[in-house]
Amino acid sequence: MNEQLLNVVVHKRQLQGDGVVVLDLTRTDGSLLPAFAAGAHIDIHVGPGLVRQYSLCSDPADLSSYRLGVLKDPASRGGSVSVHDTLVEGREVQISTPRNLFPLVDDAQRSILLGGGIGITPMIAMAYALHQRGERFELHYCGRARNRSAFLQELQNAPFAEHVVTHFDDEAPEQKLDLAKVLGQGQSGVHMYTCGPTGFMEWVINGAREQGYAEDHIHKEYFQVEVDASGASFEVVAARSGKTVEVAEGQSILDALASVGIKIEISCEQGVCGTCLCDVLEGEPDHRDVYLTDEEKAGNDQILVCCSRAKSKTLVLDI
Ligand code: FES
Repeated sequence: MNEQLLNVVVHKRQLQGDGVVVLDLTRTDGSLLPAFAAGAHIDIHVGPGLVRQYSLCSDPADLSSYRLGVLKDPASRGGSVSVHDTLVEGREVQISTPRNLFPLVDDAQRSILLGGGIGITPMIAMAYALHQRGERFELHYCGRARNRSAFLQELQNAPFAEHVVTHFDDEAPEQKLDLAKVLGQGQSGVHMYTCGPTGFMEWVINGAREQGYAEDHIHKEYFQVEVDASGASFEVVAARSGKTVEVAEGQSILDALASVGIKIEISCEQGVCGTCLCDVLEGEPDHRDVYLTDEEKAGNDQILVCCSRAKSKTLVLDI
């Protein structure tokens, strides 16, 4: 994936809550940044070969800077730790232009935004956009504890503050999220958006299904997923390179290809970003990503090689 990168500088850096760094990035030449729609993310080129995606959480109407929040995860593969350790004020860094895999729909009668922990970030940009459009919405922010949560002050002072409801695990039972009550019965004009830790999202998504929400009214963005690499071995044929390789149990297609000198561009390595997408010429993929839609998965003509496997004995890829 060749793309134009933008040179930006860390204009402001704040530590908020428990281990969240909030960065305001501006262009090195002082010009405005490209427009973005709420829900978009950028890739940050944190270091050589280290590219990570983070949602934009600033007001999409303000292109003087991009804001993002990064939770330090010591168990991560280096991305968030590196952001925390190296992106100090004044540091220049390259980013991609914004991409949006989590857009707001245009014709909602009401939107319910449910953010868990650091998953609040895309929801903040969505709230700015919905407020600007004059649409009906509410933003629910769930966290373990008030003093561990970032962005509280910004949400309190935001022009849409009256639409924000917080829910903390360690506070009074009355303020905890009553999911069924908040979601109500799924109606055609009501759209639900969620982002957060996988367990939180699954709880919210299952709750929406139980309340009768149609699948196309449930909008979700995973920022971290567990990759399940289990499953029997299979063979991958790289048609253009003329190479065949065995993908062992527990090994990724990506690693197997690398072992025979075929390098695929990657970013998240979790089936989230779509960077490693390859065309399938023959065979049946076992899709394990959260990037492709159900329809795209059913087409069986594309695969994300960082995480997916094969149901057939052989998979022929157009690489
Ligand atoms: S590298 Fe992101 S989906 Fe494969």
